[in-house]
Amino acid sequence: MKHIRTQVGIIGAGPAGLMLAHWLKQHGIESVIIEHRSRAYVEARVRAGLLEQNTVDILKGLGLAGRLEREGHLHHGVYLSFDSERVRVPFGKLTNGRNITIYGQQEVVKDLTDAWLAGGGQLLFEAPALQIEGFDSPAPKIHFEQQGEKGVIDCDFVAACDGFHGIGRKTLPKQLYTEYSITYPFSWLGILANVAPSTDELIYTYHQRGFALHSLRSSTVSRLYIQVDNNDHIDNWSDDQIWDELSVRLGTPGWSLQTGPIFEKSITPMRSYLIDTMQAGRLFLAGDAAHIVPPTGGKGLNLAAADVKHLVDGLVDYYKNGSMRSLDRYTETALKRIWRAQDFSNFMTTLFHKQDEHGSFQYQLQRAKFRYISQSEAYATTIAENYVGLPFEAFT
Ligand code: APR
Ligand code: PHB
Repeated sequence: MKHIRTQVGIIGAGPAGLMLAHWLKQHGIESVIIEHRSRAYVEARVRAGLLEQNTVDILKGLGLAGRLEREGHLHHGVYLSFDSERVRVPFGKLTNGRNITIYGQQEVVKDLTDAWLAGGGQLLFEAPALQIEGFDSPAPKIHFEQQGEKGVIDCDFVAACDGFHGIGRKTLPKQLYTEYSITYPFSWLGILANVAPSTDELIYTYHQRGFALHSLRSSTVSRLYIQVDNNDHIDNWSDDQIWDELSVRLGTPGWSLQTGPIFEKSITPMRSYLIDTMQAGRLFLAGDAAHIVPPTGGKGLNLAAADVKHLVDGLVDYYKNGSMRSLDRYTETALKRIWRAQDFSNFMTTLFHKQDEHGSFQYQLQRAKFRYISQSEAYATTIAENYVGLPFEAFT
């Protein structure tokens, strides 16, 4: 039986768990991470890649942004399209110079994992947490196993950074929270391709055949998505069909999409989900464990980073001053940003996805919203400031 003692036991080595561990270490607080999957699996998991300035600033503050600053792409605006009309929303003027960086989430995970292990941090892979015991006592325990051997982490606090399917949320007593969710009647088919991006900034588009997004990873790798039905299957799509569909949906006069070899493709469902309690005693949930947003606003990873900030603030207060006061306000503080992001992600999703017949009342509302972006700087500002992410001070 493996026995580990630490201050904060962290379940999950996704962005939330890794950022938390690094940030606590910066404050002299010890933690150990256990991760269900293998290192190769976690590092290969392809996800979104939009980092708000807040998130980049956090990584810089932790000294973990070296590769991100070299290889990430700083964007000062975004293209929004509707029925082949395209407008650019510039961030600089509308958001006091804030911006976004495009850098794949799995690259963030690789950087954080490398740095954690290089600094002598404990991170057990292929070590699923099985049970969280005594979260309502001052001495909680995480039971886990690794290669058939049982183990236990004795800690002061448990941070469940274990994603949507983890055990953190399942452990939270049901009577403590209300669950809110929307399941959308469409999914995203996403690809990574070896081709130079056909755009310098992201393009989100409504088309009568459905939503499309052109993103990128580097000067030679593009990341693109199309809206598909929930019951669609990746085997139904040849590479040529995917490119044809992307070209039609993203097409505008005088612009065309470059195509190339696709090396990754998958379909992901879209959902909005949250619970309104992220703490029970000494158990805290952060990131996807507590909330999911549809990816249209690019908020998933950034919300995880914001949760971690609030959790670190609370834990630092506890270890410095012996007070649970800020920890007990964790849910309240985190939820303000989470609801804002839920609203914005839902807004972007409903604005750009085909939900109804082309030309329907719903469609006309979407088009009216799109037109309003060019008519009103106030409306464009609303979109820009949410897209780049509001500063932390906005929610205090
Ligand atoms: N024991 C140990 N690890 C677990 C367990 C368990 N019982 N259950 C889940 N995990 C691990 C998963 O294998 C995963 O690596 O927890 C990790 C959770 O990581 P993420 O799913 O990446 O969640 P999070 O760190 O909150 O990051 C949020 O991920 O899904 C995206 O859009 C989302 O970008 C956002 C980001
Ligand atoms: C991505 O680059 O994968 C990406 C960017 C913006 C989004 C979603 C995904 O809104």
